[in-house]
Amino acid sequence: MSVVIVVGAQWGDEGKGKVVDLFTERAEMVVRYGGGANAGHTLVIEGVKLVTHLVPSGVCHPGKACVLGDGMVIDPHTLLDEIKDCQSRGLLMRNELLIGLGAHVILPYHKLLDGLREDHSAKRGKSIGTTRRGIGPAYEAKAARKGVRMRDLAKPERVRELVAANLDEMIPLIQYLGGETPSKSDISKWIDDALAAGDKLRPYTGDAGRYVDETIKAGKHVLFEGAQGCLLDLDHGTYPYVTSSSTIAAGACQSAGIGPTRVDAVVGITKAYATRVGEGPFPTEIPGEAGDRLRKAGGEFGATTGRPRRCGWLDLPALRMGVRLSGMTSLALTKLDVLGGLGEVSVCVAYKLDGKELDEPPTDPEDIARAEPVYRKFPGWDRLPSEAHDIADLPTSARAYVDTIQGMAGVPFCLVSVGPDRAETIRLSDPFA
Ligand code: GDP
Ligand code: IMO
Ligand code: MG
Repeated sequence: MSVVIVVGAQWGDEGKGKVVDLFTERAEMVVRYGGGANAGHTLVIEGVKLVTHLVPSGVCHPGKACVLGDGMVIDPHTLLDEIKDCQSRGLLMRNELLIGLGAHVILPYHKLLDGLREDHSAKRGKSIGTTRRGIGPAYEAKAARKGVRMRDLAKPERVRELVAANLDEMIPLIQYLGGETPSKSDISKWIDDALAAGDKLRPYTGDAGRYVDETIKAGKHVLFEGAQGCLLDLDHGTYPYVTSSSTIAAGACQSAGIGPTRVDAVVGITKAYATRVGEGPFPTEIPGEAGDRLRKAGGEFGATTGRPRRCGWLDLPALRMGVRLSGMTSLALTKLDVLGGLGEVSVCVAYKLDGKELDEPPTDPEDIARAEPVYRKFPGWDRLPSEAHDIADLPTSARAYVDTIQGMAGVPFCLVSVGPDRAETIRLSDPFA
């Protein structure tokens, strides 16, 4: 029996979807543990692409249980669309899905508020650059103990009461932010639609915590799939430029209701370079044409919003922070192929701030923005062979890059990914072993 958590080591979009798909071969159950449809996880299997937002990325392995943890915030309409897409591909046909009854429901006013806040803050140059999927407002309602949960969708009266109480407080806020006051008919449509979606989702709902615990106790391999990345964590990330959930490995325990003593391994996923979507400090960001070239080579456009991702060099201080925050036992390095063809590759090995050298980012975001990256340059390499299955198949300079960053990150690599497809992978060790 092993419990393995997969977690993004940077600012999201590291390739978690691809790695979760690969690791699901060995697991009996995959549990998505945080966030909502702000996530976009891309799988490519024999050239066919599937993007998951809510459904765990283990979905392409029929018969494996896919669980949505209680710590998630779920847009029921997005989830229904996703289930439909999966079923049209012959997936999720055998009772594989279980949605935690404690997960919170995203309602249209959460999305409305998210967008209005972003627009309002943008006027003062203060936006977060959220995905506008209602994530922040839904987690706010949860923390305020006013949220609507999946279990409530079975009780129309309770939903009506909760929504009315929420809107009493929110309508003045919507008006303050310059939004249109929702009409009575808007509100009753929001409720009716949520209830109708709840009816369709009900066969998939249940006690996720018990199910996960029983599966672990039965000696099965269980995989937890993180969304976003460690540096977007609400408590430990680059606040306020973060998401509203616990994205670090601890979030898996919190979301699924299992104790930390259950966890055997934590695999962090890191790109061979760095990207960030939305606002916030990003010291290794590459401005101008060089950044554009990396974006184009890596196809760095958001899987959820289509926004161009900001691109930069690998940031080892930030990676070390992710390793520490999640207690990573190994790392999967992705997108090494994207750096092929560059004459030279840089890596930030430390930050310089006020004359001092730092091995991790400072805690204040203003200090992070002021910090100067200290770079180490590596000779580049040509295109990597996509059929590389062994580290020895890589050019010498790519191998030197991998060896050096492995040493400086402080944990071993369990996998090196050299292309988006499942097959384009060098496997080094099995996290379930
Ligand atoms: P996630 O949110 O962490 O699951 O990552 P995304 O799916 O949002 O973004 C990662 C993107 O990189 C996807 O389009 C993947 O198909 C792609 N990808 C994953 N690994 C590799 C790789 O090793 N090389 C290349 N070129 N693309 C990869
Ligand atoms: P995956 O799982 C990259 C970012 C947004 C924004 C901040 C807050 O695909 O790696 P939110 O909508 O969550 O309130 O936005 O967090 N963000 C992500 N960036 N990948 C993600 O998910 C993200 N989910 C949220 O861009 O900066
Ligand atoms: Mg993504």
